[in-house]
Amino acid sequence: MSIEAGDRPVALVTGSTSGIGEAVARRLAADGTRVVVHSRRSAETGRALAAELGGAYVQADLGVEEEARGLVARALDHFGRLDVLVNNAGISRPIPHADLAAATPADWRQLLEVNLIAPWVLCTAALPALRRSPGGGSIVNITSHAGVRPKGSSVPYAASKAALNHVTRLLAAALGPDVRVNAVAPGLVDTPMTKDWAQAHELWRDRAPMHRPARPADVADLVASVIGSAYLTGEVIVLDGGLNLT
Ligand SMILES: NC(=O)c1ccc[n+]([C@@H]2O[C@H](COP(=O)([O-])OP(=O)(O)OC[C@H]3O[C@@H](n4cnc5c(N)ncnc54)[C@H](OP(=O)(O)O)[C@@H]3O)[C@@H](O)[C@H]2O)c1
Repeated sequence: MSIEAGDRPVALVTGSTSGIGEAVARRLAADGTRVVVHSRRSAETGRALAAELGGAYVQADLGVEEEARGLVARALDHFGRLDVLVNNAGISRPIPHADLAAATPADWRQLLEVNLIAPWVLCTAALPALRRSPGGGSIVNITSHAGVRPKGSSVPYAASKAALNHVTRLLAAALGPDVRVNAVAPGLVDTPMTKDWAQAHELWRDRAPMHRPARPADVADLVASVIGSAYLTGEVIVLDGGLNLT
């Protein structure tokens, strides 16, 4: 029996023109989900990927509150429903943890705006549509092992991800059973964000039991499993190749 296009679930994957988000978009589309691709600047790449995946593309800067607010409505314009929200878009800026003055209040505000407040705004905007999802809605927040252990590219980055991990648990408790909320917390992933992080790459090669950083597709596999696990909610799943054991 063929499934009508209108019956297929719809996922909005933020920051899906690159790295982890792109891999998640490709994986969900391969699984039969209609994907709304999103990015801040890379509109041409976004449109090309959306066309390749049979999805749609929306551009919005999540550092600007009104644009974050409008993103879900613009995604709904395309397919009229939303079943999955993957809060993947995020920013990072390496700042030594001991150099307190280098992490300015402006850095804090920007990192919290994009990594924490924007996902909150998107969850808020998406909630009515997610509640209507026939199979139950699903939110997956891409956080970081830096939000679980005292690590990461900067203190404000790690704090933004730790806060999003806790928001994940709080929302899971508040929104079940209609909407499940989980976080995937990767360690080092081979993406444009980390291409110059030689020390981190060396650490993962030498010390992690898997002896390599994650590939974006490794993260996408876990995100797809989390979305497909109908009883899973409130979990923060660390995906770091076992580095946390060392
Ligand atoms: N890579 C890692 O090792 C790692 C580890 C743990 C967690 N993470 C998290 O995983 C997520 C994805 O990381 P990645 O390494 O795949 O990143 P990436 O390759 O740098 O891609 C980031 C994506 O997010 C979009 N984006 C960035 N700032 C945005 C903004 N203000 N508004 C809207 N979209 C924005 C980018 O769009 P444009 O290109 O158009 O700007 C791009 O599509 C992030 O939340 C990151 O913190 C990454």
